[in-house]
Order: sequence, then structure tokens, then C-alpha cells
Amino acid sequence: MSSNSKKMSVLVIHGPNLNLLGTREPETYGTETLADIDARLSKLAAELGVDVTAEQSNGEGEIVSIIQGARDKYAGVLINPAAYTHTSVAIRDALLAVGLPVVEVHLSNIHKREEFRKRSLVSDVAVGQVTGFGSMSYELGLRALAAELLRG
Ligand code: DQA
Repeated sequence: MSSNSKKMSVLVIHGPNLNLLGTREPETYGTETLADIDARLSKLAAELGVDVTAEQSNGEGEIVSIIQGARDKYAGVLINPAAYTHTSVAIRDALLAVGLPVVEVHLSNIHKREEFRKRSLVSDVAVGQVTGFGSMSYELGLRALAAELLRG
């Protein structure tokens, strides 16, 4: 593996309940499964010339550990923190601690929903946020993160 390929490895993190995509509130989150989304990301990653590895966890502490482990392995993080977006100081702190470029994504438009979803503890430590485009949010987010990594 060249140092270059290491530079372009992206870690995708899916937070709690996203393992249920496909059957979970399809009117809000669509009918694609998480495996469908990961397959789309792998295809796009090949086009963009980056590597992607995807992980899903329902646990806040586990997500913190996954982020901590990303430090020396990945060049950037694409994350949908799901419900922890709105509550987790621990996930925010882990992202700050590893210092990798982060792009935050959401399937639904979190600004168009309940008040408590409008606040993200991640967005101001992220390069940017893509929200409201269904599975396309992930693809747009990966494109943006890859561009950011290429620039940097
Ligand atoms: C979500 C939005 C969150 O508010 C919610 O808790 C989720 C999914 C989204 O992708 O739209 O689980 O992050």
C-alpha cells in the first residue's frame, strides 16, 4: 500500500437504528437498506479513486472507539451520527480528538423536522453537512469529502 492510498481512505460511520433502513419509517428514510447505501458508496468510491470502509453501531461508546481507531488509518470520516447527532458530546469530542476532516450526512432534512433535530453537535466540527437527500446525501457527502482530501 502506498502512502498515497492511505491518504485517500475514508471511514463511513452509520449511527444507531440505521441498520434498520429499508423497513424503518420508510416515509422518512426511504426504502433502501444500509447494504444498498454501502454498495452505492463503494461504486462511487471506485469512480472517485478513494477507498471506503463502512461501520454501523447502535452504541455511543462503540462509535467513539471507532472514531478513535480511525486516526492512523483513514484520511477522513463520513458520518451519519443519527440520533446521537443531537445529543452526543462524546462523539463530537472524539471527532475533535482525531482531527480528521469530517463530513456529516443525514437522509432526512434535520432542519425541517422536530425542533430537537435542528441542533447538531457535529456540524461545527465538520467540513460541512449534507442533509435531506435520502441516500444521495451520502453520495454527495463522499464527493465533497473526496474533493476536500484531494485539495488538502
Ligand atoms: C438521521 C436524522 C436523525 O434525527 C435521526 O435520529 C436518525 C437519522 C437521518 O439520517 O435523517 O436516526 O440522522
